[in-house]
Amino acid sequence: MKRIAVLTSGGDSPGMNSAVRAVVRKALFMGLDVVGIERGYVGLIQREFRDMTLSSVGDIIQRGGTMLKTARCKEFETLEGRAQAASNMRNLEIDGLVVVGGDGSFRGAQALTREHHIPTIGIPGTIDNDIPCTDSTIGFDTCVNTVLDAINKIRDTATSHERTFIIEVMGRRTGYIALEAGLAGGAESMLIPEVPYQIDEVADKLQKGMERGKRHSIILVAEGAGDVIEIGKHLNARTGLDVRVTILGHLQRGGSPTAFDRVLGARMGSKAVDLLLAGETARVVAIKNGEIIGMDIDYVLSQTKTIDMDLYVLANILSK
Ligand code: F6P
Repeated sequence: MKRIAVLTSGGDSPGMNSAVRAVVRKALFMGLDVVGIERGYVGLIQREFRDMTLSSVGDIIQRGGTMLKTARCKEFETLEGRAQAASNMRNLEIDGLVVVGGDGSFRGAQALTREHHIPTIGIPGTIDNDIPCTDSTIGFDTCVNTVLDAINKIRDTATSHERTFIIEVMGRRTGYIALEAGLAGGAESMLIPEVPYQIDEVADKLQKGMERGKRHSIILVAEGAGDVIEIGKHLNARTGLDVRVTILGHLQRGGSPTAFDRVLGARMGSKAVDLLLAGETARVVAIKNGEIIGMDIDYVLSQTKTIDMDLYVLANILSK
């Protein structure tokens, strides 16, 4: 292994820069050349390559987003697209590829290895925390803290006006963001895709709170758990409460990464280089009980990330 490449792909997440920096600097430390690929798999197909040096990754650790830029690439989902990418890599004598992204990006890496025998290592970078086999993904912690900050601010105005706020957070398939931020922010209810709910039960809970003298409430809804506008209308019709809806949207993907995400990015980036140098391929870097490990990509992608039900139950006990 003489030269490796690194790219970021799919939705960006705070801490991706830390992972890229770690891949580049650890690889250089180990005597490898490193190529940065811009705009994810788009750049791999269109040859948007740049040589990386120690200073290429200077002054990025504190920045959200990704200095390599990112994209969602339909062409890479085709055999032809991947063949073009593999040929570009061979021409540049790239011996291994590190992909920082989510499960869609890992499927691309898996196919590249299977079809063209190019060693690939995935690093989980997504705010959703929806990658199986890892306790956390890079960016999740920062996102939860961003949502928490928003909850605190909304609570100020909710208290003043005695209103009920419905806050939509990201998470198409998983409710990790809603659950953790809701627990940390003292939300009254958290609606997530993994757990079916009855909207009338949510209304009843609000009503009971009012009867006890509660004058404001916060309900967190993961985007995959329902239409917040409709939920708001229904709750208003059922309870007569003054309901407002806030959709946090993409602000959840930005911001300076927390120390946790920076350290996670650094450790995972370093591990990815170690795995390539050890001759491993088709692996996903994961954190399990504080330890950074390599997992088989086929296994990871065959699993479904489940919500921590103990946490869900606890959040509901505490959110009265
Ligand atoms: O996968 C990360 C994520 O932020 C999801 O939570 C969200 O549903 C999606 O990306 C939004 O994607 P886009 O930026 O392409 O609109």
